Amino acid sequence: MAPSYYRAPYADPSTEEEQLVVEKDEYTTRLPIQARRSSPLVSWFVRLALVVSVVANLALWIRARTLKVDTHQMFSPAIPFIAYEDVVTTSGFGRDISPYMGKPTPEKDELWRGLYNFGISRIPMKDAARLANRTVPIGNDPGYYAVTLDVFHELHCLNAIRRRLWWDGVPDPEEPLMDMPHLDHCVDMIRQNLMCSSDITPLPWVWDRTQKKALAVGKVIRTCRNFDMIRQWGIDNKVREFNTSIYVEDPLGNMEIN
Ligand SMILES: *[C@@H]1O[C@H](CO)[C@@H](O)[C@H](O)[C@H]1NC(C)=O
Ligand SMILES: *[C@@H]1O[C@H](CO)[C@@H](O)[C@H](O)[C@H]1NC(C)=O
Repeated sequence: MAPSYYRAPYADPSTEEEQLVVEKDEYTTRLPIQARRSSPLVSWFVRLALVVSVVANLALWIRARTLKVDTHQMFSPAIPFIAYEDVVTTSGFGRDISPYMGKPTPEKDELWRGLYNFGISRIPMKDAARLANRTVPIGNDPGYYAVTLDVFHELHCLNAIRRRLWWDGVPDPEEPLMDMPHLDHCVDMIRQNLMCSSDITPLPWVWDRTQKKALAVGKVIRTCRNFDMIRQWGIDNKVREFNTSIYVEDPLGNMEIN
């Protein structure tokens, strides 16, 4: 479900356009008549108002550009799928727990995998050409390139850590990357991702009557990117078949390591 407030500020462009047209009409019909009638003082005032208006608009434009710097974002093919919404998160304590918590069961594991198991995506060459870090063409899918949105990678990593924490010695053929070098990589990727996104939601403290002290709580409302939309992008652009052993000549120029 797309959060409605995302579009609210842009709602009903038709009425906005109509208003603009009406204003323009008033301008073109009334202004010349007023100008002919007005005294030199009034006409000087109109000119001053015009200058003030131009300066004010310039200031707004500069401010808008500064705001854009605040929301700086490198190109990603999923940018059109970013939508913000306010979400109440669970604290994970007492009865305020999420279905992703607790001892792994086939259902819980499926829930976790459902967050990312479409993780490799195919993007058209025109998008691949815009990536800050270039990627490889898919051998058996001409004109398409492979990427993984980092959120899916981080979720896969977190799931591997979770499974290792609940590890009961039974290897999981669907989650083979449970060795320490991989988990070590995962912990550090998640650390960097948390620092990169620096969630500034203020967690409040509340008085706990039983413990007779104030505690920081996690059940708060916070501004989030709508994950369902990003997940849907992942599902819709899931790679069809990606044989990573096929070398492809890249018209954009081959990138290689080692
Ligand atoms: C991605 O780009 C950054 C910045 O240019 C560079 O430091 C990094 O090595 C690149 N990664 C790869 C895999 O080429
Ligand atoms: C992938 O490509 C390699 C190299 O061409 C080939 O040997 C291999 O059989 C392919 N694998 C599959 C599953 O098609």
